[in-house]
Amino acid sequence: MIRLNIPFTDERELEEISKVLSTGYLTQGPKTVEFEQLVADYIGCKYAFAMSSCTTALHLALVVLDIKPGDEVLVADFTFPATANVVVQLGATPVLVDINLETLTIDPEDMRRKITPRTRAVIPVDAFGCAADYDPILAIAAEHNLPVIEDAATAIGTKYYDRYCGNLSTMGCFSFHPRKVITTGEGGMITTNDAGLAERIKLLRSHGGVRTGAWFQYEEAGFNYRLSDVLGAIGVAQMKKLAWLVERKRQMANSLSERLSEIPGICIPSEPKWGGHIYQSYVILVDENINRDRVVEDMKAGGIETTLGTYALHDQPYYQRMFGYKPGQIVNSHAAFTRTITLPLYPQLSEADLDVIARTLKAVMVQS
Ligand SMILES: Cc1ncc(COP(=O)(O)O)c(C=O)c1O
Repeated sequence: MIRLNIPFTDERELEEISKVLSTGYLTQGPKTVEFEQLVADYIGCKYAFAMSSCTTALHLALVVLDIKPGDEVLVADFTFPATANVVVQLGATPVLVDINLETLTIDPEDMRRKITPRTRAVIPVDAFGCAADYDPILAIAAEHNLPVIEDAATAIGTKYYDRYCGNLSTMGCFSFHPRKVITTGEGGMITTNDAGLAERIKLLRSHGGVRTGAWFQYEEAGFNYRLSDVLGAIGVAQMKKLAWLVERKRQMANSLSERLSEIPGICIPSEPKWGGHIYQSYVILVDENINRDRVVEDMKAGGIETTLGTYALHDQPYYQRMFGYKPGQIVNSHAAFTRTITLPLYPQLSEADLDVIARTLKAVMVQS
């Protein structure tokens, strides 16, 4: 069986972890700071704060913007539910926005249509390692004085023209879940250039406490959203591989696309006009008349693990029950939810593996 994804770890992660274990200091500490610095330097931003996950990063990003009950936050509909769940957790309303089917990222015109006097922030999502189209997003947000939080969960190392994701808007949130290009097992990061927001993120990440001499003084009711130094150590080793991983994934994606280009009934992912796709996931779109779930089953029978792209939030029972969305109402997102397939693409795969994936998909599609 060719697995969907395998994290790229080796003795370098073990070496970094053993340095932490030998200090006996395992909570957030110097390795986490080193990891944060590597991320800040890579993407070129001023501040980076390691977090326990991208979900907690997104939650804290909304907290420091003072999002409250009654507020509306625009969220790309085609995403992992965490992006909108954190809005709900603050008692605010996620307003779901359609996507563009070519890039699978938020449609700026639909975003504009959904702004109301209660809108307080926008969360575009970088899809599968492809940046959303930030020029129009940021222009529309600026017209309405709205902060933009990038859900860059899949986009560490992704560029939008010549700038890195996570350094394009008010704040960026990364994930280091094992399905991502680099991983710490679980983990996340918030990046920003805003000193005021940075100060509050730092305070609220760790209980709201400020050290005053020997003790802490608790200025706010904060969280424990810290990353352990053991995981920070994995992050340090992984960050040192990032440039290579991005290059390798881009080259492999081209190689796979060449093999898939003649297969009927599918649309392969393409580089957007702003470039920089890192193919965190390699996601194809099958034609409307194809039974996607059957393709996934047949691929499995052929020894290839695949899965759906991600979810249309308006098609999920919670969002229908709480906010009255109807199945299929957000048209492009619904199409992406029902028609996308993620194929395996990670550095350990050989050219021969890519041949097998392409051959198996061709056989399955010809029967479909
Ligand atoms: C777009 C997106 N946002 C948020 C998350 C949540 O990330 P985490 O698992 O680090 O909390 C994910 C995870 O898959 C994601 O893909």
